[in-house]
Parts: sequence; structure tokens; C-alpha cells
Amino acid sequence: MTPTEELHQTMAALVRPGKGILAADESTPTITKRFKAVGIESTEETRRAYRSLLLTTAGVGEYIAGVILFEETLAQTNGSGRSLPEVATEQGIVPGIKVDKGTTELPGAGGDKITQGLDGLRERLVGYKQQGARFAKWREVYSITPHNPTPLGIEANAEVLARYAAACQAEGVVPIVEPEVLLDGDHDIERCAEVSEAVLHEVFHALQRHRVALELMLLKPNMVLPGKSNDRQAEPHEVAEWTIKVLRRTVPAAVQSINFLSGGQTPAQATANLNAMNRDFTGQPWALSFSFARALQEPAMASWGGRSDTVEDAQQAFYHRARLAADASRGGYDP
Ligand code: 13P
Repeated sequence: MTPTEELHQTMAALVRPGKGILAADESTPTITKRFKAVGIESTEETRRAYRSLLLTTAGVGEYIAGVILFEETLAQTNGSGRSLPEVATEQGIVPGIKVDKGTTELPGAGGDKITQGLDGLRERLVGYKQQGARFAKWREVYSITPHNPTPLGIEANAEVLARYAAACQAEGVVPIVEPEVLLDGDHDIERCAEVSEAVLHEVFHALQRHRVALELMLLKPNMVLPGKSNDRQAEPHEVAEWTIKVLRRTVPAAVQSINFLSGGQTPAQATANLNAMNRDFTGQPWALSFSFARALQEPAMASWGGRSDTVEDAQQAFYHRARLAADASRGGYDP
């Protein structure tokens, strides 16, 4: 198969009505933080057991079309010695891989960050493909302050995202393009809309410059929300209205699917907000679905707690959140 044929095949498997993506690609420091919050020690074995628990949840392939894994997980196995990418594939879930190497300060950009990992990326993609990955993810982050993100930060981050996406497509790996405007701060929803619009505008400009085929990538943006320390929080209809407005101004219709991150919203909030978009604003040019980490995993991780007698409870909790998120992607979520 040519890289383009591979991209088409992977897109068809990932973009399925009523399904979304599970982000289970927390880096080791991040999963260690999440485990610690619920009293689980983070070791290679607990991380393996936990990711195996998620991927072996019976029937979850009905709601989850793809899973983003962390590098360590690609080489791990379930209890019966099958590799975790194979376990996902058997459930009808396409395995993917986080390929960025996290953020660092962007000098001269007033505290804005930039994501690393472009050096050697094509060679790494070849290796990840051999381990079963068919799509990739790269995240850029943007903090909102009165002075951030800066024009330089917005431009530099867009350029890096586009270079990553072009490298993936050259190797026949579908890129998930993730520009995340963070929830932290006391700004209002209008300010988040303004920043998200500027960020997405620049990202699509850079993607065009790097000849990225928009039909053969996925966008993973934040929802447009008030800062989490703002006194006035927004109802799902308002979040949906602002989010769709910003996306309509910036995301070409050639993009097949927009899969939101949850970004620190509770599972119920993230799901209700996605639902409001699909219920109240039908007829958009792209599918609107999910690529949640915390909003799919939080209850499952807490009920597991690192024990072996709680695996079934944790799987039930994960299955439940996956079903509700899938319902929200059709506008039929009933909390
Ligand atoms: P959250 O849904 O927890 O924001 O995570 C999604 C993700 O992949 C962040 O990069």
C-alpha cells in the first residue's frame, strides 16, 4: 500500500459515526501524577496492568474507534502475552501513538511554550508503525494570560504542528493535530474564543504551507470555555455556541472530524458540552466527537485503585463513560 492508501484506510477506521478516541497516552510523569491522586503507585507493571484493563474491557470497541498510546505501552502485553496494540486491534480499536516529547519554554515569547520532538521523527514513525501504530498525536499548549499567547508563540507552535503533521503523512501515519488552549486562569469565555480563533487560524495557515492533506488528519482542539477560576461558568449550550462559532471561522470543511480533548473538565461537563454541540448545532461540515483522556478514565482509575479485585468495577466504569461520550457524539446523551 502507498502511504496515501494507508492514510485513507486509517481515516475510514477512525471516523465512524457514534465513536470517538480514547487518549491513554499520558507520559510517565503525567500518569504518575494521576495515579498518585487516587493512591496508585506508578511502576511499569501498574501502568501495564491499568492500560491492559482499559483495552480488554469487553465491548468497548462499540464506542471507541482508536486509542492513543504512550511509547512504553506499545511494547507491553496483556495477561496472556499479547501485545497491547494487538489487543486493541482485536477489539476493533485502531492503535495510535503520542510522538511529541513534551514542552519547553520558547525563548523570547513572554513565557509561551513550544513542543519538542521533531528531530528524528520520521525514523521514529517507521519504528512505531512496525509496532502497530497507525496514527499519531502531537500536542502544543497555549496558556491564557493578559499577555499570552504572544504572536510569536502562536506562529512558532503552528509551524511545529504542521511540520509534525507533514512528516506523519509522508510515512502513511494519520496525524492528530492538537493545539490546546489551556483552561487555567480567570479569563472569560470571550477571551478563550479570541485566543482559540487566533491559534486555529495560524495552525491551518501553517498546515496549508506544509501541504498537509486536511482530509487525512484529525483536529483535536479544546472546547471554548471560561477560565476555570472565572466566577461565571458557562452552560453547555453557551459552550457549544462559542465553540462552533470559532471552529466555523477557522476549520476548513475538508477536515473530516474534530475530536475534542477534555482538558480538565469533569467527565459530566465534557460530555454534556459535546452533546450540546451535536444536539443544538446540527449540520456542521465535520463530525464532532471526542478524544478524551481524563473524561473517559477518571472514574475507572479511581475504582481500580491498583487492586486486582476491582478490575471488573473499573472496566464497568470505563465502559459507561465511553458509552455516554459516544451518545454525546450523536447528540443523544442522557445523564
Ligand atoms: P484530556 O482529555 O485529559 O485533556 O487529555 C487529552 C489529551 O490527550 C491531552 O493531550
